[in-house]
Amino acid sequence: MRVKALRELISPQALDRRVRELAARINEDYRGRDVIVLCVLNGAFMFFADLVRRLEVDPLLDFLRVASYGKNDESSGTVSFTKDVELSLAGKDVLIVEDIVDTGRTMAFLMEEIRSRGVNSLRLAALVDKVERRTVNLAVDYAGFTIPSGFIVGYGLDYAERFRELPGIYVVELEE
Ligand code: IMP
Ligand code: MG
Repeated sequence: MRVKALRELISPQALDRRVRELAARINEDYRGRDVIVLCVLNGAFMFFADLVRRLEVDPLLDFLRVASYGKNDESSGTVSFTKDVELSLAGKDVLIVEDIVDTGRTMAFLMEEIRSRGVNSLRLAALVDKVERRTVNLAVDYAGFTIPSGFIVGYGLDYAERFRELPGIYVVELEE
Protein backbone atom coordinates (compact mmCIF):
# COMPACT_ATOMS: atom_id res chain seq x y z
CA MET A 1 0.00 0.00 0.00
CA ARG A 2 1.26 3.46 -0.90
CA VAL A 3 1.29 6.40 1.47
CA LYS A 4 -1.08 9.15 0.32
CA ALA A 5 -0.45 11.74 2.99
CA LEU A 6 0.91 12.38 6.46
CA ARG A 7 -1.24 14.42 8.84
CA GLU A 8 0.49 16.04 11.82
CA LEU A 9 -0.78 14.70 15.13
CA ILE A 10 1.90 15.87 17.60
CA SER A 11 4.16 18.83 16.81
CA PRO A 12 7.90 18.89 17.58
CA GLN A 13 7.18 21.60 20.19
CA ALA A 14 4.55 19.46 21.93
CA LEU A 15 6.95 16.49 21.94
CA ASP A 16 9.68 18.61 23.50
CA ARG A 17 7.35 19.90 26.22
CA ARG A 18 6.08 16.44 27.07
CA VAL A 19 9.55 14.85 27.15
CA ARG A 20 10.66 17.54 29.63
CA GLU A 21 7.65 16.77 31.85
CA LEU A 22 8.37 13.04 31.82
CA ALA A 23 12.06 13.65 32.60
CA ALA A 24 11.12 15.86 35.55
CA ARG A 25 8.95 13.06 36.99
CA ILE A 26 11.68 10.47 36.44
CA ASN A 27 14.28 12.74 38.09
CA GLU A 28 12.01 13.05 41.11
CA ASP A 29 11.20 9.33 41.34
CA TYR A 30 14.76 8.02 40.86
CA ARG A 31 16.80 10.53 42.86
CA GLY A 32 19.70 8.81 44.65
CA ARG A 33 19.11 5.40 43.04
CA ASP A 34 21.23 3.21 40.71
CA VAL A 35 19.32 3.59 37.49
CA ILE A 36 19.81 1.77 34.21
CA VAL A 37 17.82 3.20 31.31
CA LEU A 38 17.26 0.81 28.40
CA CYS A 39 16.48 1.92 24.85
CA VAL A 40 14.31 -0.43 22.81
CA LEU A 41 15.69 -0.15 19.27
CA ASN A 42 14.90 0.98 16.68
CA GLY A 43 11.76 2.99 17.33
CA ALA A 44 12.69 4.54 20.67
CA PHE A 45 16.01 6.03 19.57
CA MET A 46 14.84 9.64 19.23
CA PHE A 47 12.62 9.69 22.32
CA PHE A 48 15.41 8.02 24.32
CA ALA A 49 18.03 10.53 23.13
CA ASP A 50 15.84 13.49 24.07
CA LEU A 51 14.72 11.98 27.38
CA VAL A 52 18.15 10.98 28.73
CA ARG A 53 19.53 14.45 27.96
CA ARG A 54 17.05 15.77 30.53
CA LEU A 55 17.91 13.23 33.25
CA GLU A 56 19.85 14.31 36.33
CA VAL A 57 20.10 10.89 38.02
CA ASP A 58 23.49 9.81 36.60
CA PRO A 59 22.02 6.81 34.76
CA LEU A 60 23.79 3.99 32.96
CA LEU A 61 22.44 3.52 29.43
CA ASP A 62 22.12 0.39 27.34
CA PHE A 63 20.35 -0.73 24.19
CA LEU A 64 18.41 -3.77 23.10
CA ARG A 65 16.41 -4.94 20.15
CA VAL A 66 13.61 -7.46 19.94
CA ALA A 67 11.95 -9.04 16.94
CA SER A 68 8.27 -9.78 17.20
CA TYR A 69 6.69 -12.20 14.76
CA GLY A 70 3.07 -11.84 13.79
CA LYS A 71 0.53 -11.83 11.00
CA ASN A 72 -0.38 -8.57 9.25
CA ASP A 73 0.33 -5.67 11.60
CA GLU A 74 -0.67 -7.58 14.73
CA SER A 75 2.19 -8.78 16.94
CA SER A 76 1.94 -12.40 18.07
CA GLY A 77 3.70 -12.32 21.40
CA THR A 78 6.43 -14.57 20.02
CA VAL A 79 9.36 -12.32 20.70
CA SER A 80 13.12 -12.84 20.72
CA PHE A 81 16.18 -10.66 21.33
CA THR A 82 18.11 -9.71 18.22
CA LYS A 83 20.37 -7.57 20.42
CA ASP A 84 20.45 -8.23 24.13
CA VAL A 85 21.34 -5.84 26.94
CA GLU A 86 25.05 -5.92 27.80
CA LEU A 87 25.03 -4.46 31.33
CA SER A 88 24.25 -6.64 34.34
CA LEU A 89 20.79 -5.67 35.59
CA ALA A 90 20.83 -7.53 38.92
CA GLY A 91 19.91 -5.29 41.85
CA LYS A 92 19.39 -2.23 39.63
CA ASP A 93 16.43 0.07 39.15
CA VAL A 94 15.67 -0.44 35.48
CA LEU A 95 13.62 1.87 33.27
CA ILE A 96 12.68 0.62 29.81
CA VAL A 97 12.14 3.30 27.16
CA GLU A 98 9.87 2.25 24.28
CA ASP A 99 8.33 4.17 21.41
CA ILE A 100 4.76 2.85 21.44
CA VAL A 101 2.74 0.22 23.26
CA ASP A 102 -0.02 -1.21 21.10
CA THR A 103 -1.41 -4.64 22.07
CA GLY A 104 1.26 -4.73 24.77
CA ARG A 105 2.46 -8.22 23.84
CA THR A 106 6.01 -7.19 22.93
CA MET A 107 6.48 -5.26 26.18
CA ALA A 108 4.84 -7.94 28.32
CA PHE A 109 7.38 -10.46 27.06
CA LEU A 110 10.31 -8.07 27.39
CA MET A 111 9.40 -6.96 30.91
CA GLU A 112 9.04 -10.54 32.09
CA GLU A 113 12.45 -11.38 30.65
CA ILE A 114 14.14 -8.32 32.21
CA ARG A 115 12.42 -8.91 35.55
CA SER A 116 13.83 -12.46 35.65
CA ARG A 117 17.35 -11.03 35.78
CA GLY A 118 16.95 -10.00 39.40
CA VAL A 119 16.29 -6.29 39.00
CA ASN A 120 15.45 -4.25 42.09
CA SER A 121 12.62 -2.49 40.26
CA LEU A 122 11.30 -2.24 36.72
CA ARG A 123 9.26 0.51 35.10
CA LEU A 124 8.22 1.42 31.58
CA ALA A 125 8.29 4.76 29.78
CA ALA A 126 6.52 4.84 26.42
CA LEU A 127 6.11 7.90 24.24
CA VAL A 128 2.74 6.73 22.93
CA ASP A 129 0.22 4.48 24.62
CA LYS A 130 -2.50 3.04 22.35
CA VAL A 131 -4.47 2.08 25.39
CA GLU A 132 -7.67 0.89 23.64
CA ARG A 133 -5.73 -1.69 21.63
CA ARG A 134 -4.32 -3.45 24.70
CA THR A 135 -4.85 -7.24 24.77
CA VAL A 136 -2.62 -8.05 27.75
CA ASN A 137 -2.48 -6.57 31.22
CA LEU A 138 0.32 -4.02 30.99
CA ALA A 139 0.58 -0.58 32.55
CA VAL A 140 2.80 2.21 31.22
CA ASP A 141 4.39 4.04 34.18
CA TYR A 142 5.46 7.12 32.19
CA ALA A 143 3.24 7.63 29.14
CA GLY A 144 3.87 10.57 26.83
CA PHE A 145 0.64 10.61 24.84
CA THR A 146 -2.42 8.38 24.79
CA ILE A 147 -4.07 7.80 21.42
CA PRO A 148 -7.02 5.53 20.57
CA SER A 149 -5.92 3.89 17.30
CA GLY A 150 -4.52 4.72 13.85
CA PHE A 151 -1.03 4.16 12.50
CA ILE A 152 1.51 6.86 13.31
CA VAL A 153 5.04 7.64 12.14
CA GLY A 154 7.85 10.07 12.87
CA TYR A 155 10.07 10.82 15.87
CA GLY A 156 11.55 7.31 15.59
CA LEU A 157 8.39 5.50 14.50
CA ASP A 158 8.35 3.95 11.05
CA TYR A 159 6.15 2.63 8.27
CA ALA A 160 8.31 -0.02 6.53
CA GLU A 161 11.43 1.75 7.88
CA ARG A 162 10.39 5.15 6.45
CA PHE A 163 9.68 8.41 8.29
CA ARG A 164 11.74 7.70 11.44
CA GLU A 165 13.69 10.93 10.92
CA LEU A 166 10.70 13.29 11.08
CA PRO A 167 10.72 15.65 14.08
CA GLY A 168 6.95 15.39 14.75
CA ILE A 169 4.40 12.57 14.85
CA TYR A 170 2.04 12.05 11.92
CA VAL A 171 -0.95 9.85 11.10
CA VAL A 172 -0.42 7.82 7.92
CA GLU A 173 -3.15 8.00 5.28
CA LEU A 174 -2.87 5.18 2.73
CA GLU A 175 -4.09 5.10 -0.88
CA GLU A 176 -7.17 2.94 -1.47
P1 IMP B 1 2.60 -4.55 20.49
O1 IMP B 1 3.34 -5.81 20.84
O2 IMP B 1 1.31 -4.82 19.77
O3 IMP B 1 2.39 -3.63 21.67
O4 IMP B 1 3.47 -3.84 19.39
C1 IMP B 1 4.29 -2.80 19.67
C2 IMP B 1 5.22 -2.49 18.51
O5 IMP B 1 4.50 -2.39 17.27
C3 IMP B 1 5.86 -1.15 18.74
O6 IMP B 1 7.06 -1.28 19.46
C4 IMP B 1 6.07 -0.65 17.33
O7 IMP B 1 7.30 -1.12 16.84
C5 IMP B 1 4.94 -1.26 16.54
N1 IMP B 1 3.83 -0.32 16.36
C6 IMP B 1 2.59 -0.40 16.92
N2 IMP B 1 1.81 0.62 16.53
C7 IMP B 1 2.57 1.40 15.73
C8 IMP B 1 2.33 2.64 15.04
O8 IMP B 1 1.25 3.25 15.06
N3 IMP B 1 3.38 3.12 14.31
C9 IMP B 1 4.58 2.51 14.24
N4 IMP B 1 4.85 1.36 14.88
C10 IMP B 1 3.85 0.80 15.62
MG1 MG C 1 9.05 -0.83 18.93
